[in-house]
Amino acid sequence: MTIENRGFEIRQLVTEADAAAAARVGSLAYTFTNQYSDGTLQHFFRWVTDKQSHEDKQVWGIFHSQLDNLDDDFMNAPVSVDAKTAGEAATLVAPTPGLIAHWIHRNFKINLFGTVRSLGGLAFVGVDMKHKKRGYAKVLVTQWLKDCFAKGQYLVALHPFRPDFYGNMGFGLSSPYYDYVISPSALPKDFVSVNGAKVKGEPSFNALKTLKPTHLEEMVECQNRYSSQIHGMIQRNALSISEQAFKSKGVTRVLGYRDNSGILRGYLLFTFETTTSGGLINDLKIADLVHETTEALYAFIKFLREQDDQIRYIKLTTQETDFFRLLNDPRSGPAAGEQSGIVGFGRETAKQSIALQYKVVNLEKLFSEYFADRDFNGVDDFKLWINAEDTFTPEMNPPVLLQFKKGRVSVLEVGGNHSDKADASMYLGIADFSALVVGAVSAKLLARYGKANVEPATKLNIVSRIFYSEDSPSNSVFF
Ligand SMILES: CC(C)(COP(=O)(O)OP(=O)(O)OC[C@H]1O[C@@H](n2cnc3c(N)ncnc32)[C@H](O)[C@@H]1OP(=O)(O)O)[C@@H](O)C(=O)NCCC(=O)NCCS
Repeated sequence: MTIENRGFEIRQLVTEADAAAAARVGSLAYTFTNQYSDGTLQHFFRWVTDKQSHEDKQVWGIFHSQLDNLDDDFMNAPVSVDAKTAGEAATLVAPTPGLIAHWIHRNFKINLFGTVRSLGGLAFVGVDMKHKKRGYAKVLVTQWLKDCFAKGQYLVALHPFRPDFYGNMGFGLSSPYYDYVISPSALPKDFVSVNGAKVKGEPSFNALKTLKPTHLEEMVECQNRYSSQIHGMIQRNALSISEQAFKSKGVTRVLGYRDNSGILRGYLLFTFETTTSGGLINDLKIADLVHETTEALYAFIKFLREQDDQIRYIKLTTQETDFFRLLNDPRSGPAAGEQSGIVGFGRETAKQSIALQYKVVNLEKLFSEYFADRDFNGVDDFKLWINAEDTFTPEMNPPVLLQFKKGRVSVLEVGGNHSDKADASMYLGIADFSALVVGAVSAKLLARYGKANVEPATKLNIVSRIFYSEDSPSNSVFF
């Protein structure tokens, strides 16, 4: 792996010319958008300029310092942008020369263990096709990690295109996602309420109201209250909800549920998918389901059940490991008759996928600041030496000696070897440690799989208790 001698610079992409360069590079990295032709490139250009104006995002790039002898097409080919209004002339935007790679730094808020914390996010990673395999992605991720550190984002996340690529860089897998394909009739009819009463909920035409952009503020408040109940849920802001709910020219339908005081307690975003088997067979895809209360959840469930004449399956992706328990019939709709599992007596419920990875940016700050308020399950009078090997950015994650008192943690030593002062030592990779510290996996399991080693082995129970989480992280915000 070599970075050429001609040198490079890293800076934020702020101008239209920068956006044109990012569109040239990005459209060939994200070819599924089909926006790399001369005619469609302007859509990608507009997408980047839009992102440049968002407060919670910064678009960054790596540029060649010396431009001699570089390909004209890579450097100068202008992006032709149609006029926004009739009568206005089309414009040609010349890209800033020499852009090698780009990314977007996202600034999120996330609920982890009941407290809203900052989270750095990485998105829109792309390296110019002629510059791959020269270590620029390494430069990019390293720079972003340093920027996260400077912002106090001691925990970061990304959606990988390949989990092993980012696994090598120290990113550990969150809990899995599940794609459910549910027959409407498999949804429950009622829920247990006060004194065991079974509640069916009021008619959908009373309970559910169509939400519009004028309701955005209420939706943000509702989503943020909802995310504060769910470990691992990222908060949405108005822009994020607006992009998800209202930027599809009415294709996404938006229904809200208010309680008796008129407070929005949930919303459902969905689209229709017409199948290839005929126009009369439609599926309903849930884009988001936010529910602060059981009443809100069942108002949506009732509505979805009522669609069984028109809707074949309801599609939902969730990171909730126990979602199948909600269903009357937890079998997958299309695979209801199929058998699977041990000797074929299991029934398929959902398709499992992995889609989110976390990395601890700095072990010391993670414990001295980020999780300073976290209760590590009441563990008391215990010293733990953690050596979480980070081969990608070793300087950012030296080992730490921690002290736990009544569940609270403090950092006693950083770097060197202080295992002799500890009650136990834990050795593992930073990716697995990152998954452990967000509650996606237990220390016991990591030890059983040979991914972690706790010494002495008799202390494995207490080390596992320190990081035990009642809930695994659950997030539905894609970025
Ligand atoms: C995927 C993509 C970003 C990779 O970019 P790239 O510049 O070719 O990647 P790099 O050369 O920096 O490769 C990563 C390097 O990190 C280095 N690296 C990874 N983990 C490391 C570690 N723990 N220690 C040291 N080095 C490490 C490796 O040396 C690796 O290089 P290698 O392939 O020679 O082993 C690029 O191919 C691309 O833009 N693809 C299309 C768009 C896309 O898929 N984007 C989605 C990304 S989320």
